[in-house]
Amino acid sequence: MPAVHAEGLFKIFGRRTDEAVRRLGDGASVADVRELGATPAVIDVSFTVEPGEIFVVMGLSGSGKSTLLRMLNGLLDATAGRVRVGGDDLTTLDAKALRRLRQERMSMVFQHFALFPHRTVVDNAAYALEVRGMDRRTRRAKAREALALVGLEQWADAKPDELSGGMKQRVGLARALAAETDLMLMDEAFSALDPLIRREMQDQLLELQAQLGKTIVFITHDLNEAMRLGDRIAIMRDGRIVQIGTPEQILDEPADDYVAQFLADVDRGRVFTAGHVMVAAPAAVPLGAAPADVLTAMRAHRTGTVLVGDGNGGLAGVATEEAVRTAAESGAPSLVGLPLQPPVSVRTTTLLADLLTPAAQDEVPVTVVDADGRLVGVVPRGAVLAALGGATGNGRPVPSGTGSPHTAGATAVGTREAVRG
Ligand SMILES: Nc1ncnc2c1ncn2[C@@H]1O[C@H](COP(=O)(O)OP(=O)(O)OP(=O)(O)O)[C@@H](O)[C@H]1O
Ligand SMILES: [Mg+2]
Repeated sequence: MPAVHAEGLFKIFGRRTDEAVRRLGDGASVADVRELGATPAVIDVSFTVEPGEIFVVMGLSGSGKSTLLRMLNGLLDATAGRVRVGGDDLTTLDAKALRRLRQERMSMVFQHFALFPHRTVVDNAAYALEVRGMDRRTRRAKAREALALVGLEQWADAKPDELSGGMKQRVGLARALAAETDLMLMDEAFSALDPLIRREMQDQLLELQAQLGKTIVFITHDLNEAMRLGDRIAIMRDGRIVQIGTPEQILDEPADDYVAQFLADVDRGRVFTAGHVMVAAPAAVPLGAAPADVLTAMRAHRTGTVLVGDGNGGLAGVATEEAVRTAAESGAPSLVGLPLQPPVSVRTTTLLADLLTPAAQDEVPVTVVDADGRLVGVVPRGAVLAALGGATGNGRPVPSGTGSPHTAGATAVGTREAVRG
């Protein structure tokens, strides 16, 4: 069952709203219905958010993002259409049932998060639980856990005015997390933060998401933020959704010129990752292989380096053509004793911007490992630059598990990890 489902959703402010919906449905323009005295804010919006997904709604100021979000949480009645949260159709719930659903099943984080100045940080974080009627002890314990998740446990007993803007916003996040709802609705939650703190918060949200598996509807007017955070992005323009897709789909095939205009500003290096540009790793050669055979194979494949397995499912290192040739010429029976370079290893989540240095500095290929250290691919020379230049269709994500068994567990052999920054 989808976490959130919106179907044919309209919100019209002002007069003759039902007539406005009817006319818009018949193809009338926004200008036409404005003549009725109606202000269309959300027009015929439909989408589905799957559980565990970060669904970003992106659009310019006034495009209807906040209005849409307020219909998802039931604070605003839809003029037409339906909203389902889990199995419940919000349009059919009475006020009391709606309030309960809002308190128990969803939590919200806004741009200007109002903390109670006279309460401690932990009591601020516990607020949603207090509203729910949870006893003081339990709610404080849960609030402390949530503060720990956002790295603020030492500040539990401080007052909000002792915190920086970024820390206050983290308290807002902790309040939402303490509520332990599956669904989080975030409206420009990071927009008031300066760029560095904002990036930190984005990283933290991604980490929390990976850890907790929340469903998040995240509103932003910043396409870079949308691309970093979103599993899928809905782009709104003048009340309508003009495109829904993954960041890659939107970059590859913008639905119209309006979307394409935004893309010019996308910082690809901070959107795409090693996982996007890698290709399946070539099979590693065993240490026992004969140097002459390896040399022949390398020449046939026109490759200057080869991955060498350690025989235990790990990677011993990378051999250059020169080293293999020297071994072959000296008549060595195997690759044992060959000087190997340590593999340069990055995570699938490493940003392209952070791949430039390892990709450029070393002659050894950049290997890509997953969170468990398994080799899942390599980044071909040039792939990073090609992706930065716009050729995103070049390297498709490789499904995990395609690495050869010889090379599994690559990080166990002292690989270097590119730092994410
Ligand atoms: N209560 C209201 N009464 C009348 N018009 C409204 C009301 N709320 C919003 N609007 C109008 O609806 C449209 C969409 O507003 P909304 O706040 O949803 O946009 P937004 O995308 O969230 O913008 P921002 O990025 O500035 O927050 C705007 O034209 C706005 O003026
Ligand atoms: Mg808004």
